[in-house]
Parts: sequence; C-alpha cells; structure tokens
Amino acid sequence: MTNWIPLGDASEISPGNRKVYSIKGTEIAVFHVVDNDQPGEFYAIHDCCPHQGASLVEGDGTGTEIACPLHDWTFDVASGECHDFPEFPLTRYDVKLESGVILIDASAIEEQGTYKNLFLVRYGVMGWIDHFSAEEDAAYTHRDRIILKTSRGEEVGEILSSAVSPENSITPAGSILREFTPADQQTLSRQEDVTAHVFQDCQNLIQERGMPTEIIDCEQLFDQQTVVLYYLGSRMPALEILAQELNANYAWRIVFHPVDEAPEPSGCSSGGCGCDQK
Ligand code: FES
Repeated sequence: MTNWIPLGDASEISPGNRKVYSIKGTEIAVFHVVDNDQPGEFYAIHDCCPHQGASLVEGDGTGTEIACPLHDWTFDVASGECHDFPEFPLTRYDVKLESGVILIDASAIEEQGTYKNLFLVRYGVMGWIDHFSAEEDAAYTHRDRIILKTSRGEEVGEILSSAVSPENSITPAGSILREFTPADQQTLSRQEDVTAHVFQDCQNLIQERGMPTEIIDCEQLFDQQTVVLYYLGSRMPALEILAQELNANYAWRIVFHPVDEAPEPSGCSSGGCGCDQK
C-alpha cells in the first residue's frame, strides 16, 4: 500500500539541483533532472551509497547519472541501477507532484531507532563484535550460530548475549536473519577451497608486484558472492587496481579490507565493497 508523504515545495530544488530531506530518520535525496528542453523530472533515492554509505547528494553527475563521491561507483537515480556492481542498486522511491509539492511513496521506509530485540554478535573471520537486531519474538542464547545480514552481505555469526538499547540509541550493524542449520555447515565447508585459492593467488600477485601489503586472511561470505581479503599495510591505488583485476578473473566479488577497521553498519541495504579504498 502506498504512503504518499509531502517533502517540500518543488521550487526548493532548481533544475539540475538536488536536496536532502529526512523522513522517519532516513535521508532522502531528491534530484531535479532536466533533459534538454523537456520538463524537469524529480527522482528520490535513499541518500546512502550501497557500497559504504556515503551521501550521494554530494556526488558529481549529469542527467540521471550520479557518481559516489567516495569511491566513484556510478548510479542512475531514475532506475536505481549501479553501473559498476548491478547487484547493488540504489533504494529509490516513487515521486509525484501535487500542486507544486513533491511527494514520495514512503511505504518502504521504516521508522529508525525502534530496535527492541538486539543481540551482541561476533562475526567475520576477524571476530568483530557488534549489535544486530532480530525479529521481536526471536530468542537466541549464548553461542547460538545465526545467519546475519550485514553491510557486506549474508554472513555467519555467533550470539554472545542479548542487549538492551537504552532509549533506542544503538544503531545495529545489521539484522539476524535466522538460525544456522546443518545444511549451512555443508555450505561453509565447500567455501574452504575457494578462500585458499584466492588467498594464494593474491599473495603471489602482491609479491610479484613488490607491493608493501601483507594479506593475512581471507573469507568467503556465506552468500557466496563476495570474497574478502584482509590486509596489513596502507591503502593505496595499486590495491584497488588489483581488486579490479581479480574481480575480472573470478566469479565472486573480491574485496580488500584493512584488518583494523570493522565493516560499516548496514543502514542502507548495502552489500559490502568492491575496493574498500577510502
Ligand atoms: S561509498 Fe560509494 S562507492 Fe564507496
């Protein structure tokens, strides 16, 4: 069911410009796109890059194209399509004008800060610890294994404890999807060959190129779409180039992630990173 909410007067956004509005704690970027002599069109998206959450309203672009200011992924604000990684589209909202007022269909926007059932969870091969939300009636106990939705995709985690969010002040790093099953264990076992192969391949390339980077671990996320290589060393363009080369050679998205940084919270339905360079 649609839920049309007025954002503001259309005259607030001049042709070719954009503006951010906040609805229920969610940032909505509205773009006023003009195409030659055609009347302008308004498009609304969640102002949160699906990669690592940057504000897209700050990005460069013409027409319906927008480039993320952080790592240059490019998107079409009309269709939501991500040109670089089509599996990571923008969240877009239907827009209409009524008497010069911009309205968006906010039915898909959830109220922020109302997480009632939070758990402290350890996840990822690096053992990060963060809060995750669960269905209101879900109950988990210490050491239960679960499947999580994080900013990187679907991952396996382990419950440490339940947690309270004082005055809803905690923003979870993602959500708990379900319990881990024996069938999930079989999936995990099949991933070991993948990670060993990618790890070795990457180490060889780094050595051949004399890069001052040490790959210290590797994991394939549970959704089997992304392989994360953890590294010691500074961020450098050469790593981004290597990620692009590996992405062209493998069926999975290859991501480099510094060992000393936890993943971003998944406030924007993101699925991780293509380069992790900041
Ligand atoms: S945060 Fe947008 S491309 Fe990385």
